[in-house]
Amino acid sequence: MNFEGKVAFITGAGRGIGKTTALLLAKYGANIVACDLNYSDLEKTKAEIEELGRKAIICETDVTNKLQIDQAVQKSVEEFGSIDILVNCAGIISTSLLVEAEEDMWDKVMGINAKGTFLTCQSVAKQMIQQKSGKIVNISSIASKTAEYANGIYCTSKAAVNMISQTLALELAPFNINVNAVCPAYTNTDMMQNVFDNRGPVEGMTPEEYKKVLTSFVPLGRMAEPNEISELIAFLSSDKANFITGVTYTIAGGKELH
Ligand SMILES: NC(=O)c1ccc[n+]([C@@H]2O[C@H](COP(=O)([O-])OP(=O)(O)OC[C@H]3O[C@@H](n4cnc5c(N)ncnc54)[C@H](O)[C@@H]3O)[C@@H](O)[C@H]2O)c1
Repeated sequence: MNFEGKVAFITGAGRGIGKTTALLLAKYGANIVACDLNYSDLEKTKAEIEELGRKAIICETDVTNKLQIDQAVQKSVEEFGSIDILVNCAGIISTSLLVEAEEDMWDKVMGINAKGTFLTCQSVAKQMIQQKSGKIVNISSIASKTAEYANGIYCTSKAAVNMISQTLALELAPFNINVNAVCPAYTNTDMMQNVFDNRGPVEGMTPEEYKKVLTSFVPLGRMAEPNEISELIAFLSSDKANFITGVTYTIAGGKELH
């Protein structure tokens, strides 16, 4: 894939899938705007992008804060002149039964996963509409498609990400902007370790036992590596995907078969 001359704006780029996506798109030629809450992680991402011979801007941005997102978008356009690709990776997970969940946990998870995706899409889309082109990829989850025990708020937030993506696909199609969502299953990142550590005991298992049980549900028998998710994101961000929009792509080693 060739992203020479393209600019990719990526949230959650400090670590995990967001970081591997930033590095992969840079490897394929893009300059990167990397946003995250964690500035020291962003500095590491920037250094690795520059080692690949690409430019990077880093923005300490909370995706729930409209002003900070708008400022990051403005900075990107001032520096690079356009935003061609948006990848929304910032996200968090929580563990609780819905009947016991605290209201502030609902606000936090829905705020980052759903509202953060909405706000970032809205701000970047306004720039892409002027350009009359763009690719948006929102990271959802298989949890958006099938309910999971003790994971109701996250499941709900990711179902919202799917619907934000589908609705924007309709609204932005006249401007030659494609919007898709990617729905990974278990991927080898800090977030997944958090799931083993916190949801394992809720299910009466140690983190290691829970990891074995979850991966046994995957026909391919393992977690995804973050880079495998990033390759699908790169494809959907490329000219090869010009006729694909409004789709929620499962990438789950056979865990979800629809
Ligand atoms: N790891 C998995 O198994 C898995 C599976 C399906 C979907 N996902 C989704 O993929 C995306 C990336 O997950 P990951 O596994 O790389 O997680 P991760 O925890 O490794 O990384 C998430 C990143 O998002 C950043 N972030 C959190 N809140 C933020 C905020 N308010 N503003 C800006 N940045 C913020 C964090 O600082 C971190 O760098 C998430 O949306 C997640 O829900 C992950």
